[in-house]
Amino acid sequence: ELSFIHRFEPALTPDLPPLLLLHGTGGDENDLISLGKMISPGAALLSPRGKVLENGMPRFFRRLAEGVFDEADVKARANELADFIAEAREAYGLQAPVGVGFSNGANIAAALLMLRPEALAGAVLLRAMVPLSEPPKADLAGKGVLMLSGSMDPIIPAENSERLAEFLSESGASVKHTVLPVGHGLSQQDLSLTQNWFLNR
Ligand code: MLT
Repeated sequence: ELSFIHRFEPALTPDLPPLLLLHGTGGDENDLISLGKMISPGAALLSPRGKVLENGMPRFFRRLAEGVFDEADVKARANELADFIAEAREAYGLQAPVGVGFSNGANIAAALLMLRPEALAGAVLLRAMVPLSEPPKADLAGKGVLMLSGSMDPIIPAENSERLAEFLSESGASVKHTVLPVGHGLSQQDLSLTQNWFLNR
């Protein structure tokens, strides 16, 4: 019995890295399955449901207000999620996954990179912000990160997503950060840029 409710779709193309799909607030383990199939067709998909409930809506960590995080909970939940990834890799025979997160799911993926870098081979962060104000030094050498932000995102100030991109690249990750002329929701461009990033990875 693994420690998160989740969906797992085995690989159809075994050499591709598995995707760890991390939904936004109010989503669940089903939300990003079709996105995962489109962005890296044939890859194994591991999709946990966030354990924190906010008015019944699943999330991956507690927040005090929109964009204001309970950082102790961010740390505890990132560690719990990293432990689940290790369990699932063992149970399903997987290499380290690429995290693909949207909104709250992108924020916990960024926290995983900072706190448990061994958990992810790389990440796609869709509408991410800085999850920890004083992150420890991490060694992200060899990890590719695609960050897609929205210039009209009402939740995430441009300065904040830029600060996250800088932190990740200063930690050694190969970061590609693109700011799209969109809001917090995903667009067709998110899909095509993510597909291209996987093809060229
Ligand atoms: C968060 O709480 O992680 C961010 O505010 C994004 C969201 O979930 O709306």
